[in-house]
Amino acid sequence: MMTSTVQTAYEALGGEAGVRALVKNFYALMDDLPETFALRMMHPERLSGSETSLFEFLSGWFGGPDLYVAKKGHPRLRMRHANFRVSPAMRDQWLLCMTQALDAQVADTDLRSRLIEKFSQMASHLLNSPDAAAGTVSATPQHGDNISLNLSKPRTIMKTAHDLVTAAKARVQEVAIAEAEQAIREADVLLDVREADEYAAGHLPGAIHASRGLLEFKLSSSPELNSRDLRIVLYCKTSGRAALAACALHDMGYLQVKSISGGFDAWLTAGKPIVKPSLPAFE
Ligand code: HEM
Repeated sequence: MMTSTVQTAYEALGGEAGVRALVKNFYALMDDLPETFALRMMHPERLSGSETSLFEFLSGWFGGPDLYVAKKGHPRLRMRHANFRVSPAMRDQWLLCMTQALDAQVADTDLRSRLIEKFSQMASHLLNSPDAAAGTVSATPQHGDNISLNLSKPRTIMKTAHDLVTAAKARVQEVAIAEAEQAIREADVLLDVREADEYAAGHLPGAIHASRGLLEFKLSSSPELNSRDLRIVLYCKTSGRAALAACALHDMGYLQVKSISGGFDAWLTAGKPIVKPSLPAFE
């Protein structure tokens, strides 16, 4: 009797253990390679959640158990990447890590090229932004490229507030002031993340006050704001605090967060209307 010998990519990689190892190595490379620093900065500080998501997605995509779909529903990967700037440079950094991880694990050259081809197609499909000044890799990753991993290397570099804001801006979607009104019209909620005195001195019409310090707590305690698909627009004075706040919201799981480029100051300079609550007169 003939038996079918068609093997899935999941089986060819060694099943669950093989796919897990690939994902672990992929993120270890992202963490370690100097050329992929900008890509690393788009991701949360702890990579364990990212590892789980990618492992579960690849398990199903490669023909094994569809763990991602069972947990999160349809992958909608383009939509789930919409809040990140996926530029050609970022795609190349992503593919550099994956190519290196496959080189280290998959000896079968035919299988390796077919997987790299699949990943390249998917990565190009996710592109949503032209190259920014976020950092580039000069060369297309080659199969033979080798790197040495030093997983025990301590991270000793201190970051400034400016570094944190730059990294945050690489992760979040900013809308130009010219498109801000349209974004606000399409949003479910407009949040002013400045301090209470700044909000009281004047704010955008319709904005709810939720200072950056209390933002996560306010959202968690408001059931009507708990949907991952809630369309949120944020602003602060110039957009630094809003970028950091948007990252916190991404980390909470919100998928559709936008920040107004230039913030309240840019809104004022553009001559757009603001609201100043009138204070009660004590006479
Ligand atoms: C092209 C360059 C890419 C960039 C810059 C990129 C960036 C990111 C970032 C920043 C996240 C969020 C990580 C987190 O919050 O844990 C993410 C999530 C994810 N990425 Fe990518 N990615 C890229 C390509 C890909 C490709 C090619 C795949 C699949 C083959 C993929 C699959 C995923 C999955 C499954 C998630 C988790 C989504 C979720 O459940 O919310 N990504 N990606």
